[in-house]
Parts: sequence; structure tokens; C-alpha cells
Amino acid sequence: MQSLFNKKFVIGEKYHENNDLTLYLGDCMDLLKQIPDNSAQLVVTSPPYNIGKEYEKRQKLQSYLDFQEQVIKECYRILKPEGSICWQTGNYVDNGSIIPLDIVIYPIFNKLGMKMRNRIVWYFGHGLHASRRFSGRYETIVWFTKTDNYFFNLDPVRIPQKYPAKKHFKGDRRGELSCNPLGKNPADVWDIPNVKSNHTEKTEHPCQFPVALIERLVLSMTQESDLVFDPFMGVGTTAVASLLHNRKSAGADIEQKYLDIAKKRVSLLSYGQLKTRPMNQPIYKPKQNNQQSLFVEFGDDVRLALIN
Ligand SMILES: C[S@@+](CC[C@H](N)C(=O)[O-])C[C@H]1O[C@@H](n2cnc3c(N)ncnc32)[C@H](O)[C@@H]1O
Repeated sequence: MQSLFNKKFVIGEKYHENNDLTLYLGDCMDLLKQIPDNSAQLVVTSPPYNIGKEYEKRQKLQSYLDFQEQVIKECYRILKPEGSICWQTGNYVDNGSIIPLDIVIYPIFNKLGMKMRNRIVWYFGHGLHASRRFSGRYETIVWFTKTDNYFFNLDPVRIPQKYPAKKHFKGDRRGELSCNPLGKNPADVWDIPNVKSNHTEKTEHPCQFPVALIERLVLSMTQESDLVFDPFMGVGTTAVASLLHNRKSAGADIEQKYLDIAKKRVSLLSYGQLKTRPMNQPIYKPKQNNQQSLFVEFGDDVRLALIN
């Protein structure tokens, strides 16, 4: 979808509270040092998973967790009391054995006294096919708040009701709509396509977020002008989702080429030319008559199978 956006953004390479966007080239710990306490309303990120992607050196799990802890502590420091941290992770794989990273990262948040509000399952229908275990088709986002007095607004992220016209059929409210006309809570399992080669948002980054995933978090956990921080910014998906909804954003990446793409995406956004997949677009389901039919023989038996 092409947005009707037309806005100029103030972009800085070092943090300043007046920047609409800060894109820092270097280690996120260096950018975090520039940001005062209690500045960000939301920290959302997908850190490296320590699985040997082109942008990371594989480390021992404990060294990886030690670094994550340093970053999370600093994110906690810059977070406002009403603020949230959303950490999106998958699995670390060690010699064929998987370790879900949210399990091993949870104690870091717990030690800081943060409260977990949801463990969101991000489900996607496509990915690599495993042969020695079931293929992985979800990752998680663990959502923690700094205090009990956290900001959360469901209305901008409600999804259509299944039966919007359903009414109470007895009692005092007989005849009135029985469900919220603004829509229902999207719940904690989100079916959003991951950014693979045919996705409209695909860049050369091997693991970028879909914008829709971050839009839900930005819209429900922040208000206009709030700062959304991403320590591992990649090609700027957090920045795009934040600026699209009049929030500020800041983040770092160690790779110049990813920040260049982030700048380009933000520039396209400012001219209303960035294509993103709309937040609540239903998942494409192929129609039966678009499928080819195939006869498969099983011994004497002939069965009809459908292939996509
Ligand atoms: C999983 S990717 C994030 C992708 C991002 N969510 C997006 O949509 O583009 C992790 C990123 O962290 C960056 N990175 C790795 N170590 C870093 C560090 N110490 N400081 C900042 N960025 C780092 C990598 O270059 C990589 O782009």
C-alpha cells in the first residue's frame, strides 16, 4: 500500500530530543549513552540471534546474554515510567538443539523488576523447511513494562469482529450490540507474513521486521511525539512504523549499508512513496480453482491431490 504521507523529517546522526529520527552508525551502547534517563516511551527491537548471520559473530551463549543484559539495562534506564520494552526473538540453535531466546532473556527483565504483560506469538506461514524437526513458523515478542502505571491503548489496534452485528437477545441490554463496534482485541497470536523475497517491503537485509508488526506495538503503547527506540535498527522498520504515526524514533546499527537503506525508506515515506503491507490486511488464501489438480497413484488406488 502507498501511504498519503507528505512530511519532512529532522534526521540526526547523534541523539537530540528535537530530532524526528536519530540513525546512529555504531554500537548501540554508544548511542544509548547519549540519551537521558526517562526519554523513551517504547523500546522495540529484534536483536541479533547469535546464529551467525552476516552481521554477527557467533559467540558462546553466556557472552551473548551478557551483552544483551548490558543493552537491556541501558534501555531500562532511558525508559519512561509509563513505558514498555518489546524484545522480539526466535531460537538460538546449538548443534541441532534449539534454545528459545525469550526463555533465557526473561531473567534479565525479571532482575530489573520489570513486569511481563504478554508473550506475543508472531506466526508466519512460510520459512525454511526442517527435516529433523518440525519447521519453525513462529517467533515471539516479550512485552515488559517498567511500572504498573503503563500506557496501553487498545482502540487503534482493534481488528474487525467476527459477528459485528450480533446483539444481546435477553436482559436489560436486549437488542443492543453485544460486541465493541470499534472491533476486538487482536489477542496474543499475530498472523503476519514475514518479509521474504516477494514481500512488498523486502530489502537486502536478511531479517527485517514487517512494518505491521511494529505498528501494532507503536499504536497501542505510545502517543504522538513519543520516542520509540530500537538499539538494533537494521533497515529502519521501527523508524518507519514510528514516523508513519507521528512518533519520534532513534536507533543504531553497526552496518552502514543497512542505515543507508533505512534513510532511503524514510525518505520515500516522507514523500508518501514507501510501500508497506497494511496492518490488518488478511492473509492471502489461494482459491481452489487457482490450484492445479494432480492425479497421484498409490498402488492400485488413484487419488486426487491438490497442489498450490
Ligand atoms: C535482527 S537485525 C534487526 C533488523 C531490524 N529489525 C529491521 O527490521 O531492519 C539485527 C541488527 O543488529 C545489528 N547489530 C548487531 N550488533 C549491533 C550492535 N552492537 N549495535 C547496533 N547494531 C547492531 C545488525 O547489523 C543487524 O542489522
